[in-house]
Amino acid sequence: MNKTKKDLSKDELLKLESRYCSWGDTVHYVENPNIFVRGKGSYLYDEKGVEFLDLQMIYSAVNFGYSNERLNAALKRQIDRLPQLACQYIHEEKILLAARLAQRMERTFEEKGRIHFNVGGAQALEDSMKLVRNHTGRNLVFAFMGGYHGRTLAASAITSSFRYRERFGHFGDRAMFIPFPYCFRCFYGKKREGCGMYCLKQFEKLFETEYYGVVDKKTGLCEFSAFYIEALQGTGGYTIPPEGYFAGLKEILDRYKIMIVDDEIQMGFFRTGKMWAIEHFGITPDIIVFAKALTNGLNPLSGVWAKEHLISPKVFPPGSTHSTFSSNPLGTAAGLETMKLIEESDFAVSVPKKGKYFISRLKSLQKKHSQIGNVDGLGLALRIEMCQKDGYTPNKALTDAIVDIGLSGKLSAGGKKMGLVLDVGGYYKNVFTLAPSFYITEKEMDLGVELFEEALIKAKGEK
Ligand SMILES: Cc1ncc(COP(=O)(O)O)c(C=O)c1O
Repeated sequence: MNKTKKDLSKDELLKLESRYCSWGDTVHYVENPNIFVRGKGSYLYDEKGVEFLDLQMIYSAVNFGYSNERLNAALKRQIDRLPQLACQYIHEEKILLAARLAQRMERTFEEKGRIHFNVGGAQALEDSMKLVRNHTGRNLVFAFMGGYHGRTLAASAITSSFRYRERFGHFGDRAMFIPFPYCFRCFYGKKREGCGMYCLKQFEKLFETEYYGVVDKKTGLCEFSAFYIEALQGTGGYTIPPEGYFAGLKEILDRYKIMIVDDEIQMGFFRTGKMWAIEHFGITPDIIVFAKALTNGLNPLSGVWAKEHLISPKVFPPGSTHSTFSSNPLGTAAGLETMKLIEESDFAVSVPKKGKYFISRLKSLQKKHSQIGNVDGLGLALRIEMCQKDGYTPNKALTDAIVDIGLSGKLSAGGKKMGLVLDVGGYYKNVFTLAPSFYITEKEMDLGVELFEEALIKAKGEK
């Protein structure tokens, strides 16, 4: 094996990959994965120079586009100045980033709090679990069916898919999973109009008697310490809850002193048109967890914001969840620049405006193809749910075929070969979860719709 990486063909690289790389650290959905060599704006490029329009941007980690010059420059400056530092010492970027985030929370939620850093989403989520346990002394939590919180052991325990747990032993403190208000496919078979928020009533019912296994009616103590939520479900299929759901949920949780931990790892940083998706629903969580777009997918950095009484050094002492790279200078420098970029931009206006345009184009497409059962979105978090001809029965095969056609790079637009990068989520793996760059143009959205329709028509031909 004397050849350098540059000399190797795609097939040779994939052969090495199949021999030496663990597949456990990827989802490895496709047989013959693409190898991309460059990214710019909304596009990825493969080794042959074929351009792929990316409508998922690493599950909403690259909100500000690939190779964003301003954010890359911040990282480069930091590499040349102070690229690494043990986190027992302190650097300016960490302090300024924490202050900016916490001050913004204070303005939004009128709550004082602190920021705690780590490197990955799941790690930050685990840190939030320590905060909850430290405060309540209890470790059982509620979480939603269809929720996704990561793949470390503790994050898997509160992620509803049994598939993620089945080979890893017994999860004694796995969450109690509650149906999310996924109204297109209501767990209780209701229709949104006139259901009277039946799902919320069913949740409330759990607290009626001690025999439903949740609460001691004599002391009022609940065995569950927190409810882990995503305001919009990410991997669950960009599902949007109905107005009033979260306010109603919070009312019930407050009665039993159950905290709300809001996982904004995928929906945070203006994906939905607001800094935090939960802002659409008018409640204040006790803890917010974030990651991904904080650094635009550059040097990873994640974090937790918690109300002061949960996280002050008096109650959550030094080293409670220390990690070598937790507040690393490269991540915090990128994060700080991201926050400056956010403050100087108008994403609260531009993201909903673009989202509205994209949805209108997708709804027109829906009228032409009955297999598109549902199109919806908030900001630039958009969903296309693929069904059989009846517009309801989930159609995973058609969804997979569209993904493969997009990734083949053999679509055509304006006389040239192109590809399309899509991500699939949803309870039946039949939902395209679109998370385009915030800088996507109308022309690029039109292109996205054109490429998507071409892939859909081809896929239907193959079925
Ligand atoms: C809502 C949500 N929570 C947690 C995670 C886990 O984050 P990470 O993959 O960085 O561990 C993800 C990742 O997709 C996510 O979307």
